[in-house]
Amino acid sequence: MADSFFELAQKRRSIRSFKEKPVTDLQLNKILDMCDMAPSSGGLQTFEIYQVKNKNMRERLASAAKDQDFVAQAPLLLVFCANPYRSVKRFGERSNLFSVQDATIAACYAQLAVEALGLSTVWVGNFDEEKVSKILNLPHGQRPIAMLPVGLKNEEPMEKTTRGRVDLVHVLD
Ligand SMILES: Cc1cc2nc3c(=O)[nH]c(=O)nc-3n(C[C@H](O)[C@H](O)[C@H](O)COP(=O)(O)O)c2cc1C
Repeated sequence: MADSFFELAQKRRSIRSFKEKPVTDLQLNKILDMCDMAPSSGGLQTFEIYQVKNKNMRERLASAAKDQDFVAQAPLLLVFCANPYRSVKRFGERSNLFSVQDATIAACYAQLAVEALGLSTVWVGNFDEEKVSKILNLPHGQRPIAMLPVGLKNEEPMEKTTRGRVDLVHVLD
């Protein structure tokens, strides 16, 4: 368990190999409760989370994710989808962008909750949207944004290099 947010965020890394041990309901609920607390456009929570434990469905989703096999290896897969219909009356065209942002922020909260529980995940965005939508039988208008395979890690993370804050930030004052 990490002592502080800074330690947690520093420690979080993408993991692409998982043990079979299932994620408990208590762990799952803690992750989902954090997603529910994420900020969202107008507080309208314009995202949906699809929880997949079924092995066959995980394998089909891994195949839709350009055969990234580790997607099916984790015992739990969470798929975050944008649902612009929930805010279209209020935000019009802007709800398309806002719902993608809502789903993204919720998935980001999920990643950190996973880490705080001593579990691991990786953001998977490289997938065929149409195939994923079909497998999940998504209602018209919902759009898959990110998949998070969740489980106990079975590898150490790769070396990480970053741009660093000096390169990232454009100081205008
Ligand atoms: C929008 C987005 C899409 C990503 N898609 C994939 C993916 O399809 N497959 C994968 O293995 N990693 C994917 N990643 C994970 C990144 O490769 C990873 O976050 C990055 O290399 C930094 O490593 P770290 O997460 O360990 O800090 C994605 C990350 C983001 C934010």
